[in-house]
Amino acid sequence: MWRDTEVSRRLQLAAPIIQGPFGSGLSSVALTAAVSEAGGLGSFGVHHLDGAAIGQTAAAIRARTAKPFALNLWLPHPSEQHELEADEFDAALAPFRPYFAELGLEPPPPAAAPWPSYEEQLEAVLQARPAVFSFVYGVPSAEALEQCRRLGILTLGTATTVAEAQALEAAGVDMLVASGCEAGGHRVAFLRPPEDGLIGGLALIPQVVDAVRIPVIAAGGIADGRGIAAALCLGAQGVQIGTAFLACRESGASELHRQALFTPQAADTALTRAFSGRLARGLRNRLLTELATHQARLPGYPVQGQFAAALKPAALAQGRDDLLALWCGQAAALLEQRDAGALWHSLLAQTDRLLGR
Ligand SMILES: Cc1cc2nc3c(=O)[nH]c(=O)nc-3n(C[C@H](O)[C@H](O)[C@H](O)COP(=O)(O)O)c2cc1C
Repeated sequence: MWRDTEVSRRLQLAAPIIQGPFGSGLSSVALTAAVSEAGGLGSFGVHHLDGAAIGQTAAAIRARTAKPFALNLWLPHPSEQHELEADEFDAALAPFRPYFAELGLEPPPPAAAPWPSYEEQLEAVLQARPAVFSFVYGVPSAEALEQCRRLGILTLGTATTVAEAQALEAAGVDMLVASGCEAGGHRVAFLRPPEDGLIGGLALIPQVVDAVRIPVIAAGGIADGRGIAAALCLGAQGVQIGTAFLACRESGASELHRQALFTPQAADTALTRAFSGRLARGLRNRLLTELATHQARLPGYPVQGQFAAALKPAALAQGRDDLLALWCGQAAALLEQRDAGALWHSLLAQTDRLLGR
């Protein structure tokens, strides 16, 4: 009975499958609600939204489903940088200048990268009372975790190493995602630099399962029933799938981004700091390859992100997927489904075939 695990029981899911949250506008109400309605846990990444927008997002999800869903935040991290001196701005812009010229764009003027305050975001998440508050880049304060307990919100942290898993458990977090370095998006390490903890899921999951008592949810490289079955055999109580859901038409990814995930090039991914200032995995297109030589000199997150973000509208309008940040994980080459409902049913049917109902 693979569908019946501690994670599915605690969250009353038909199967222990979580649709991973996506930051920066790539989550969508339609995708979150579709996965929750199907019987999984839909998630929405709200780290770029202010308190009011977080409340509106939760209301929009609830208008489509009465089932449990997760809201996801990034915790403040010491590596954050919100302003650049003029000379730092010029240096950071320099590698991007040719692309602005190629797209016929003026480069963006120097500007601070304003970001909603984490305290405001947390307050909005608590008020929205999702079934699950998931988070990355650290451990929330004891007070925040206590508030979640009082409100009946389950907490779900993310670990990239055994030490991070132990830190989450010691703080009293309810469940954790063990994220192997195959995963798409950012490497959300919080105890050591992400480069020091690039552990693949096959090695990471059983080590984390052995090290903690709270339920472990496997993430990274899972895109079909074989991945789910393997993760459960390694001791995980559930899986979190990102790239395969990002590729579905309901996600907030652009059509150009989604289409790129079904090309042979999607088999080739790499980690880069160039798109946001923090290490993240994406498809190795021209932008990622050419920027690789500049990585040592880049400023931090989120200021670095403004350059790739400023290219995006024109790159989309001109059909230039070589100049887009095409976030995805190493399992992109396995993708077959373009619809969340179809993906959900194929994940269940494939895992049933391997593990039995
Ligand atoms: C485009 C993109 C954005 C992501 N943003 C977030 C985020 O904001 N918060 C988070 O917890 N995880 C985020 N993730 C990680 C996913 O939720 C999930 O854990 C991961 O994609 C699983 O690995 P997979 O891509 O191999 O399936 C993101 C992943 C992608 C591909």
